[in-house]
Amino acid sequence: MSKKNILITGGAGFIGSHVVRLFVNKYPDYQIINFDKLTYAGNLENLRDIDQKPNYTFVKGDILDEAFVEETFVKYAINSVIHLAAESHVDRSITNPLEFIQTNVIGTANLMNVARKCWGDDFSDKRFYHVSTDEVYGSLGATGYFTEETSYDPRSPYSSSKASSDHLVRAYYHTYGFPMVISNCSNNYGANQFPEKLIPLFINNIKQEKPLPVYGKGDNVRDWLWVNDHADAIDVIFHKGENGETYNIGGNNEWQNIKLIKFLCRIMDEKLGREQGASEKLITYVKDRSGHDQRYAIDASKLKNELGWSPSIKFEQGLENTVEWYLENEDWLNNVTSGDYTKYYNQQYNAR
Ligand code: NAD
Ligand code: DAU
Repeated sequence: MSKKNILITGGAGFIGSHVVRLFVNKYPDYQIINFDKLTYAGNLENLRDIDQKPNYTFVKGDILDEAFVEETFVKYAINSVIHLAAESHVDRSITNPLEFIQTNVIGTANLMNVARKCWGDDFSDKRFYHVSTDEVYGSLGATGYFTEETSYDPRSPYSSSKASSDHLVRAYYHTYGFPMVISNCSNNYGANQFPEKLIPLFINNIKQEKPLPVYGKGDNVRDWLWVNDHADAIDVIFHKGENGETYNIGGNNEWQNIKLIKFLCRIMDEKLGREQGASEKLITYVKDRSGHDQRYAIDASKLKNELGWSPSIKFEQGLENTVEWYLENEDWLNNVTSGDYTKYYNQQYNAR
């Protein structure tokens, strides 16, 4: 295997930090450069256990800053990119779409332009891996699955910005032979997820006996995957995926929101030693998210059949482990929920 100097963008975020840890530990011969702007969602505490390793470097930078991205490419002789940096929360995209277009669309184009400039026409041993989402495919009814052939039909500013970036990445492949691969993954859960997303938000609210704001009727369906399984899939696709190809990643694990929330409430009651049913009383139905996609469900058979990946852990076990992680890491939760987050939370939920 050739020597790799990999720029991982967004490596201080939720999924990125798991990908960085996996690569740093599993591939001591690779140099891993974590390039992250440290927005509200980026947190170097996520990587404390590996930040002294000799094959790890953190660079604080913005993917929109072309000159600095280029300087970083040159300084570290970057020959691979795993691109996770993004604005990732749908609700925030509804209130501030332009920020999503800037980071997710322009930021991605910027990175590819720098890569082309630094790599010239020699794409041998080069790879640009764009990490995307199943939300680009739109919203399913009661039946059917998203495959790699499903037409794009994004409905939120977030998913539209990710869809735009996917199109650009594919366009660079067709136009310039750019050595890209894309994966589109379903909803992740696990340690270090910012508590604006459903599972960590509700764990935190249950802990504090605050209302659990369920959008609409709570009948939307998501397909949940443990974040470490996503990181493993990224490892497999990075090494074995074909240039120009797209791979769907999913947990084969659909849950209606309200069923998941009630299940989470039962686990929390047990872990906190509360009477069964106590947490469910916190459920509060609130105004639905605008343009709320009804159902996501991924067909990940291409990834399984062609590259041999499938999820390692059952959701019931993964969710219990996740709850334990948040309860044991109270400081992490307190640190990320102070300051600006409190302002966002009040705006988001008082407006409903
Ligand atoms: P996150 O919001 O937790 O982390 C995003 C990271 O990107 C943060 O560390 C942030 O500081 C960094 N970042 C943001 N703007 C930047 C910029 N301009 N320059 C450099 N760094 C910047 O996101 P996540 O949930 O870990 O998602 C990571 C990627 O995976 C995203 O591209 C997202 O679309 C995709 N994805 C997420 C999920 C999910 O369930 N969370 C599922 C499928 C795909
Ligand atoms: O499908 C992959 C996507 O999953 C990723 O691309 C996104 O980055 C990630 O944020 C996630 O998007 P969702 O919108 O599905 O995740 P979220 O955790 O925000 O919401 C999950 C479901 O729970 C959704 O149907 C909305 C609902 N919900 C969410 C919140 C935050 C509520 O009912 N109440 C809430 O307070």
